[in-house]
Amino acid sequence: MTILCFGKHGLVSSELMRKLPGMCHRTVLGLSHRDCDITDSTAIWDWITRYRPTHIINAAAFTDVDACESQPEQAYAVNSAPLPTMCRAAESVGATLIHLSTDYVFDGRQSTPYTETDGPNPLNVYGASKYQAECAINDHNSSAYILRVQWLFGPDRRNFVDAILAKASQTDSLSVVADQWGSPTAASTVVAAIGALIQHAPPLGIYHLRSQEHTSWYEFARYFLALCGISTPVIPISTDAANRPAKRPLNGVMSIDKWLDTGMYAPPSWTESVRQYVNLYPYI
Ligand SMILES: NC(=O)c1ccc[n+]([C@@H]2O[C@H](COP(=O)([O-])OP(=O)(O)OC[C@H]3O[C@@H](n4cnc5c(N)ncnc54)[C@H](OP(=O)(O)O)[C@@H]3O)[C@@H](O)[C@H]2O)c1
Repeated sequence: MTILCFGKHGLVSSELMRKLPGMCHRTVLGLSHRDCDITDSTAIWDWITRYRPTHIINAAAFTDVDACESQPEQAYAVNSAPLPTMCRAAESVGATLIHLSTDYVFDGRQSTPYTETDGPNPLNVYGASKYQAECAINDHNSSAYILRVQWLFGPDRRNFVDAILAKASQTDSLSVVADQWGSPTAASTVVAAIGALIQHAPPLGIYHLRSQEHTSWYEFARYFLALCGISTPVIPISTDAANRPAKRPLNGVMSIDKWLDTGMYAPPSWTESVRQYVNLYPYI
């Protein structure tokens, strides 16, 4: 009974490799980029059909949102083109696919939290490539879960927390976007959710998964800087003023009612997750 995970050394997958085997009492075979480049469809097919896993977790992706704008071919090659092969190979061995997606499939213009039935309309190449992957999975009518997550942080890959902490030590003040909304979510929360999907097998389909309660990047930065005892002033700025290559949705808040209704696992609040993170990995 093996679980196969593409993208072994990522922010989510590193945590997954540490925790999922104990959580599910199964062998988890993680594949690095070097073990299996998912732009190589033969390699995907060979790994899946050779190991015949019960579950396939696709945590591999081209996640640099701004770089995706200047490298759209690579974004689609990694984020969406592999999915038809992954689905066909999964079907051939009777495996369930667990695919990670993003709130960036939405345009953020809605004033209420996005549900799983709201229509995607991505604003940037990254979001479009991730949405194309979702469409490939749906077109294939796969035995699959699509888990849309957002604003991830964790110890294994550089993320927003590290970037802000590094800047705070180099400058007198920090400018952080205050008009984008979402929920900072720990990699450990995503892994707990994946473990729950494997153990409880709820109905297949799309699920939104994030920490409970939401905030802005500005408040997120202020919260963890205060926890770390760092007093560098944080200045709120608009998305327009940040002038990033890729457009971002303003309202990225996703409803997690469908997830909570399964009764499998209740994520912590984002503040609780950040507190745990700072306690586990103290920076000062
Ligand atoms: N991070 C977030 O805030 C966030 C938000 C929403 C959704 N998500 C989604 O959550 C999932 C996991 O994200 P993450 O933050 O853990 O990603 P990550 O830290 O960027 O890791 C991605 C992994 O994919 C691997 N990879 C890249 N190209 C590959 C290829 N061609 N073949 C095989 N492996 C390849 C990378 O390996 P190398 O480094 O060796 O290239 C890396 O191990 C992704 O689907 C992402 O779209 C993330």
